[in-house]
Amino acid sequence: MQVPAVRPESSAALPDAPREDAPSAITIRTLSKWRREGVRFACLTCYDATTARWLERAGVPVLLVGDTAAEVILGHPATIHAPLEFMITLTAAVKRGAPSRFVMADMPFLSYGAEDAEGIRNAGRFLVEGSADAVKLECDRSHAALVTLMSRAGIPVVAHVGSRPQHARRRGGYWAAGRSAESARELLDDARALEDAGATTLLIEAAPAEVAEAIVERSSVPVIGCGAGPACHGQVVVLQDLLGLTDWQPAFAAPAARLGESIANAARSWIDRVGRGDLGSHPYLMSDADREAFRRSLGR
Ligand code: KIV
Repeated sequence: MQVPAVRPESSAALPDAPREDAPSAITIRTLSKWRREGVRFACLTCYDATTARWLERAGVPVLLVGDTAAEVILGHPATIHAPLEFMITLTAAVKRGAPSRFVMADMPFLSYGAEDAEGIRNAGRFLVEGSADAVKLECDRSHAALVTLMSRAGIPVVAHVGSRPQHARRRGGYWAAGRSAESARELLDDARALEDAGATTLLIEAAPAEVAEAIVERSSVPVIGCGAGPACHGQVVVLQDLLGLTDWQPAFAAPAARLGESIANAARSWIDRVGRGDLGSHPYLMSDADREAFRRSLGR
């Protein structure tokens, strides 16, 4: 069988026209409907088009282009290193890979919060250049005014409350939120204030299950948990944790696969094939006439 000389375009690029078998689009209305109907939905972080395509095929409805990209893609020690342009580029890639999925884009450290106008424009770039369905901001009630301004501009905001990794330096490390009665009340107040300000979705990271449950009971928007217990409508974990690609995973993100080992095995097999010169059939052929002319040009 003749092997194609170049990668077929359709395997790398994605079709522009909607396919007949295309999965239906997930929107904020879908998430709100699921919330009302008690449907639990899965969310995974995703940072590239190829993986997004597989996650869409698997039926994962919500993808988060998290600033954890700084750690798992760029190899930085913390999420504050995620560059804005890079995050917008990744968001667009994920949406191209999974056009029907609800794609949330993480606004990186200091892309909001310094100047309101700058934050609103940056959020707009995620929607326009990144084709995001919503932006996620790590916030507390002090960001309520900004969330209102963004909402007024037409930007759907996911308010990420609880543990906020972008604040780890200020706190001297990562922390779980809402573990004392006082901080549990503060977390409830943050969630309330941000929802009242116009947030279309809440995301709670690292909080006791009963505190998240109280937020879910008191809210009227979808609530996504990340280590916040089973009451949340949606659940998100970092994909690399679930795939067994990271060396450590939090208890709520136990690996469902061992892809790290699979990658290492595939790489070892390639090392072996290269050593043996076993490269498969060679696809780039010359015609007999050209081969003969080439041979003569070499004086053979
Ligand atoms: O950046 C991220 O991946 C996140 C999730 C862990 C919630 O914010």
